[in-house]
Order: sequence, then C-alpha cells, then structure tokens
Amino acid sequence: MKKILITRKLIKDSEDKASKTFNPVFNTNDELYSQSKVIEMSQGCDGILTSLTDKMDKETINKLPNTIKIISNFAVGFGNIDLNAAKEKGIAVTNTPDVLSDATAEIGILLILGACRRASEGIQSAKDGGWKWSADYLIGKQLTGTRLGILGMGRIGQKIGRIAKSLGMVIHYHNRSKLSEDKEDGAIYHDNVKSLFSVSDVLSICCPATKETENMINKETVEYFPKGAVITNVARGDIVDDEALIDALNRRKIYAAGLDVYKNEPNLNPGYLKIKSAFILPHLGSATKDTRIAMANLAIDNIDEFFNTGKCSNKVN
Ligand code: GLV
Repeated sequence: MKKILITRKLIKDSEDKASKTFNPVFNTNDELYSQSKVIEMSQGCDGILTSLTDKMDKETINKLPNTIKIISNFAVGFGNIDLNAAKEKGIAVTNTPDVLSDATAEIGILLILGACRRASEGIQSAKDGGWKWSADYLIGKQLTGTRLGILGMGRIGQKIGRIAKSLGMVIHYHNRSKLSEDKEDGAIYHDNVKSLFSVSDVLSICCPATKETENMINKETVEYFPKGAVITNVARGDIVDDEALIDALNRRKIYAAGLDVYKNEPNLNPGYLKIKSAFILPHLGSATKDTRIAMANLAIDNIDEFFNTGKCSNKVN
C-alpha cells in the first residue's frame, strides 16, 4: 500500500476512506505544519495530500524526498503550490474541481447580498441593541435590475450568474474565452476587464489566482468602476491589491466589499476591520460537510487513480 502524508485533519468519513485506500500518515492534532515539518513528515512517503494552508513553494518542493510522486491538493485552487517546481521534480499535482462549485457559489451570493444590503452594520446594530427603525435606516443597494460583473466564468462563476439572474440582476462577464450560448445563459461577454468593470455595479471575482490575475483589482482598475460599485471576492486574495481597495472604500468610490478570501490568510489587512461597509468572512467558500467530504474523497481518489491506473484526470501541471 502506498504511504501518503495527509497534512491536515479530515472529516472522519474521509479519514476512514483514506485508511482503506492507502497507508495514511494522519495529523491527529490538526497542527499547522511548517514547510520544514512537511519535508520531515514526508520522508518515506509516496505522496502528499495537501491543503490550501500548505505553502508548497519551489524550495519546499525541491527538498521533498524523491519518493514523492504526487501532491493532491484538497482544494480547487492551487496557488499554494509551485506547479513548475513540481513538474521539474516529476511530481504530479492534482486539485478537486466541480465538487465545491455549488457551496462556493452560495458563499459568492452571500457576499453580494451581505455587502449590498449592509449585513455587517445590521448584525452589529442588532447585537448592540437600541436601534430604531426609520424609513431611511440602513438603506442598502437592491439587487433587482443591478448589473453584476463576473470575473472568471468557470463553474463557480456560472452558478453565481444563474442565481443572480434569478434575483433580477443583469449578468456581464469576462473570461479568457467567450462561453457557448448555453453556458452564457444570457450573460454579456466582455473581452477585457476595463470594459467589464465599467458596467459592474457589483463585481464577483471568481477567477483563479495566477500571475496574470495577481492584483487585478488595483489603484488603476478600481477607477474603471461606476461610482458606488460593490466588489466581492470568493476566489483568492491575491487578485486584490488590498491598499487600493481599502482606499477606494474609504473614499466611497467603492460603496462596499464582500470578501471571503485574503492575502496572507488568516492575517487579513487590518484596514478592512475599520470599514463598516466591508462584509468579511473567514474563507468559508467550500465549508459544508457534504462538500468537504466530497473534496477529500476526490483528493484521495486522485492519488488512487494515479498509482493504480497511471491516469491523472485532475492533474493541473
Ligand atoms: C477553496 O478555496 C478551494 O480552492 O478549494
């Protein structure tokens, strides 16, 4: 049986499956392993099941034992892994697409609603007590008839688009390539971000973090939006230049932000904490029991498929 290091604790059903599939090395205390600990723990292993909290950069990958043939990431995103370094060392990298699209799209919609309807301020007032209803109390932005720009129209973006359309939003999107009419479902394609941002009353960031998308929301691009737009991010913090967004929120160029992901998680830029109109969540995108089990099972199956068939359906490098 192949010996596999599993860097974070999984839900019990998934750990049971891992025990039946290979010889797992579990992290029973769910300790956050340092890079050197991952290297140490992977001695004698054939593969590693990583999580998005593991920073598998070039240096770490180069120091892994030569017995490691696969890194199976327990996430759809793989910005935590240096894909080229893994490829050069002959290590396959896999992810867990599809199974988390619905759960993540739900959080994407929550971010839009929470930011537009001032949920953070509302929750705080309800807890503080003493609030008084009045005709203009905590007035927010209604979604009906509002234009939603979707940056990255993959599975999560498409699902957010379908739900938002049912809420009466008008959907625009930018993607590397235009989708088929069937997948577009009436959404309007923009072949560049400037054009998309200029019609986005609300933006939902759903694209992967890559060199091309890093800091795509920045000092310059934030000016492309209509005044009072709302920016939400359910993808990765690396896509947003925090200082630029915080400044735009403070100037009210941007009305509100809905964020589930950050640079340097969990140490998000403290500037967000001072902004009342920031609706912020602690990376909950895929956090439902069914989804986390489905993701872990797929991460396990990816390893099993690789060693047993030589195929690697969810390989990303
Ligand atoms: C969650 O953020 C994921 O990439 O799976």
